[in-house]
Amino acid sequence: MQNRFKDDAISDPAHTGPRHVAIIMDGNGRWATQRGRPRLFGHHAGARRVREVVETCPDIGVEYLTIFAFSTENWKRTQVEVAGLMSLFRRYIAKEARALDDFGVRVRFIGDRVRLDKKLIKLMDELEVLTSGNTRVNLTIALNYGGRDEVARATKRLALEVAAGNIDPETVDEAALVKFLDTQVLPDPDLVIRTSGEARISNFLLWQSAYAEYEFVDTLWPDFSREEFTRLCAKYGSRERRFGGVKT
Ligand code: IPE
Ligand code: IPE
Ligand code: MG
Repeated sequence: MQNRFKDDAISDPAHTGPRHVAIIMDGNGRWATQRGRPRLFGHHAGARRVREVVETCPDIGVEYLTIFAFSTENWKRTQVEVAGLMSLFRRYIAKEARALDDFGVRVRFIGDRVRLDKKLIKLMDELEVLTSGNTRVNLTIALNYGGRDEVARATKRLALEVAAGNIDPETVDEAALVKFLDTQVLPDPDLVIRTSGEARISNFLLWQSAYAEYEFVDTLWPDFSREEFTRLCAKYGSRERRFGGVKT
């Protein structure tokens, strides 16, 4: 298990850590409230934690990192908070693009873009194109993402193909549906981490996390560190995953 944390962890056959980690970055609002500051102060502090976690990935053999930035339900928040978050996402992309690219991060976005503003969509597209040749870390940012919404959108696209006569309905199975999910090119997450002490999924990667391991930690997202991330990934390596079978 220790081998897992050497530089060459990815090519190491003894690598037992998670290859794909997904994180529900929760607790920004409470972190700010504890300090007597507006919730957006917490969101800004939270955004600053992302780089350290991304840059830890190659050291511990994590090839894919998927982070939940905004859910399809987060539109229910006040107009001030939603507008502040959208502006933060725009600024974050503009400010971090260079550093992410220099580090070798390939960035992808998942979620429904339809409700996002044009300026933000343009920045997202540009960042995906800019980093499309990178392979060191695959960072996927879930923005206006909901697991149910994703499955519904995938089903609609599949139904349209069936209606057009391009897909025989008799052939529709799990693999056929997966091709229409936003995460089509990504492996399923091995480990899902949620910060802030809430033990729920809140509509994140519902389909993909069917056999993921889960870690719920009390740390509020703006306090999450490289050390805690490394510890949770190491703990994963000591778990036994059965995928419905029995130990052999
Ligand atoms: C997570 O932090 C970030 C987003 C949902 C955008 P929260 O804003 O949910 O923080 P809490 O849960 O209110 O503390
Ligand atoms: C989940 O957190 C969404 C993100 C982290 C982006 P929420 O704070 O929105 O989830 P609930 O409302 O506590 O379930
Ligand atoms: Mg929350």
